[in-house]
Amino acid sequence: MKRIKLLKKQKNKDSNRWLDRHFNDEYVKKSKIDGYRSRSSYKLIQINEKFKFFKHSNLILDLGCAPGGWLQVSQKLSPKNSKILGIDKIGIKSIADVDFFKNDIFDDKIFKKIECFFEGKKIDLILSDMSPNATGNKKVDHLRIISIIEKVLDISDYFLSQNGLLIAKIFQGGAQGDLIKKMEKTLSSIKYFKPKASRSESSETYLVAKKK
Ligand SMILES: C[S@@+](CC[C@H](N)C(=O)[O-])C[C@H]1O[C@@H](n2cnc3c(N)ncnc32)[C@H](O)[C@@H]1O
Repeated sequence: MKRIKLLKKQKNKDSNRWLDRHFNDEYVKKSKIDGYRSRSSYKLIQINEKFKFFKHSNLILDLGCAPGGWLQVSQKLSPKNSKILGIDKIGIKSIADVDFFKNDIFDDKIFKKIECFFEGKKIDLILSDMSPNATGNKKVDHLRIISIIEKVLDISDYFLSQNGLLIAKIFQGGAQGDLIKKMEKTLSSIKYFKPKASRSESSETYLVAKKK
């Protein structure tokens, strides 16, 4: 009984600490002011400040897009009349000039659906900020995100235009070497970039690569 009470106390402490950090976070405050749905929006803004890709991205695919912060940024920073599609296994509130499919990226019909939406045209920019549900075990989380990125690579191998850009979140860990080897077959200029808005204590970083 005593042990259960202690565990509950610890859990409350942890969640209070999370709430404190969340509400005092500079990017959470900023996202409320700027009308973005996620603090992650600033990660994409900062990746774009470094790599400057939005100005020539007319066809954009955002995989794992909920709640829609990256879609809002894409809509704002891409040229007028760009075609933007977000996909997520959970729903989002609609965003003007942005389309959305509620699907798992591992669904069998995902290729067909993307192909129909972009009318067979190749895509300029593919984004993935997807993360698996965290288990708390860094090794397991790393391996699970690797399998997500492998699927993202299959999608980008098929749909990304020549010189099109892929940006994908990864949690650093041991299995990266093989993934990079796989990427090198179809992508060039592969770089890691950790935007300022990504918490320093998180092992998350972003892979940025160009289609050959
Ligand atoms: C960190 S959130 C993305 C936040 C988003 N970039 C934004 O700024 O609003 C990661 C998303 O990936 C989605 N996701 C994870 N695995 C997925 C899968 N297999 N298929 C589709 N969506 C997935 C989750 O549902 C979650 O909404």
